[in-house]
Amino acid sequence: MTMTAEAYLWFKTLHIVGVVVWFAGLFYLVRLFIYHVEAKELEPSLRVPFHEQYSLMERRLANIITTPGMVLTVSMAVCLLVAQPQWLLQTWMQVKLIFVAALLLYHFYCYRLMANLQAQNCNWTGQQLRAFNELPTIFLILVVMLVVFKNQFPTSAATWFIVGLVIFMALTIQFYARWRRKRLETIRLETPEVNSD
Ligand code: HEM
Repeated sequence: MTMTAEAYLWFKTLHIVGVVVWFAGLFYLVRLFIYHVEAKELEPSLRVPFHEQYSLMERRLANIITTPGMVLTVSMAVCLLVAQPQWLLQTWMQVKLIFVAALLLYHFYCYRLMANLQAQNCNWTGQQLRAFNELPTIFLILVVMLVVFKNQFPTSAATWFIVGLVIFMALTIQFYARWRRKRLETIRLETPEVNSD
């Protein structure tokens, strides 16, 4: 294997490692936002310590995992394109770059949400954040399909079945979480002694 071919494979390896780290960070970060927002419903003596703990966890996760994952993904992508600039002429890559731009907006919007949460100035509900947390899953599936299928992006019935299944699973998770929260609320209202603990 030539040096250039080997370098290309190293860039691709690190690009994929970056993607895994970036997404792990994005998924967990917004999950922390959900717990953080819902900690407002805790009894008053617990609210401040929980707020401080979630703020610390969010900052560390964002700065030590999520952003370095993003930087590794993008910097290795640039190396891949420098090595093979002809990718930029292909439609799948141009479409991929649009999704990546949306993902970068999502990433930086998470920083804004984090700053608002830490300043106790975030109006989002747990339910809204749960829906927001599903967005990167959609980007991930579409981008991975684009790099795998390239210009042969599938549009068959099987593809729509898989897309439908993913949407169905995401909605089921949302409804299950809502049902669980409602049930806990009912139990709390029916047994007031739990509240007075
Ligand atoms: C900064 C934007 C990005 C650019 C310019 C870019 C560019 C590239 C290039 C040139 C390749 C090599 C394709 C090949 O050799 O077949 C690649 C591979 C890959 N990219 Fe990206 N990428 C970017 C962001 C992403 C993101 C955000 C994801 C995940 C959501 C991703 C997932 C992948 C995967 C899984 C591969 C391996 C595909 C394969 O080997 O078949 N990329 N990328």
